[in-house]
Amino acid sequence: MEHFESIFYGKLENEVKIEPRDWMPDAYRKTLIRQISQHAHSEIVGMLPEGNWITRAPSLKRKAVLLAKAQDEAGHGLYLYAAAETLGVTRESTIEDLHSGKAKYSSIFNYPTLTWADIGAIGWLVDGAAIMNQVMLCRNSYGPYARAMVRICKEESFHQRQGFESLLVLSRGSAEQRAMCQDAIDRWWWPALMMFGPRDSESTHSDLSMKWKIKRMSNDELRQRFIDMIAEQVKVLNMTLPDPDLKWNEERGHYDFGAIDWDEFWQVVKGNGPCNRERLEARRKAHEEGRWVREAALAHANKKSMVKASAA
Ligand SMILES: [Fe+2]
Ligand SMILES: [Fe+2]
Repeated sequence: MEHFESIFYGKLENEVKIEPRDWMPDAYRKTLIRQISQHAHSEIVGMLPEGNWITRAPSLKRKAVLLAKAQDEAGHGLYLYAAAETLGVTRESTIEDLHSGKAKYSSIFNYPTLTWADIGAIGWLVDGAAIMNQVMLCRNSYGPYARAMVRICKEESFHQRQGFESLLVLSRGSAEQRAMCQDAIDRWWWPALMMFGPRDSESTHSDLSMKWKIKRMSNDELRQRFIDMIAEQVKVLNMTLPDPDLKWNEERGHYDFGAIDWDEFWQVVKGNGPCNRERLEARRKAHEEGRWVREAALAHANKKSMVKASAA
């Protein structure tokens, strides 16, 4: 083994973080760039389905909470774009890859938010699934990514709490509110399970990611943990999960669950989900409309540094 390579694997072995200036295998760098930028895109695109409800939140309190959450997601995107930049890609090229359709983001955000209860279900189930993944990522081997995740996780747990609490209020409300709550859970449950990615047997990137300590648990392990947690929490809501096969298995010490529709998963990944086109369109439009702000900020920064230089 080459000298640099053995230092790299020695660090992994001893749980020492890999830092931007350290030598790393090309494939490790590539995997991280792909994963961190996909993650950043998911944070930013994830604001879109929720943004749909900011103007229609049922009270001032709910509106303030939702605004704060959407702003947190923007912040998560920014930490992550910055973390990706430490690996040698520019933010501009990363965002360009999103807008051209070359880069992916989490498919969950290609589903529509039809009612107010969807906002609660997203907080509880979507942010809940995200936390399962992200807690593990706080210990990933790449320093800038791991450190960004620590702060993100703190904010994500607030997101899940507010979602659950919002559903709890609906679940104790009128018959219409209870029906709306159940309907949102029914529509978000399966897509939330798909957030953990394909089954371990079909996951292309998993083995190397585990070896490099980017991932610490497999897709199926994380999915099972999530199901075990939600199957208990749904009882507090007095609601049900839309899976007739969901059942506690004493022997395994886990909940058994029904078959996931992987065909739907791959359709959405390939761009044929209910809102794929709409989401990308909204992103491109926001980018275009923000162009003058970026240009003005740059012109201002240049002017300031010129003034400083001539004073010196
Ligand atoms: Fe987030
Ligand atoms: Fe979140």
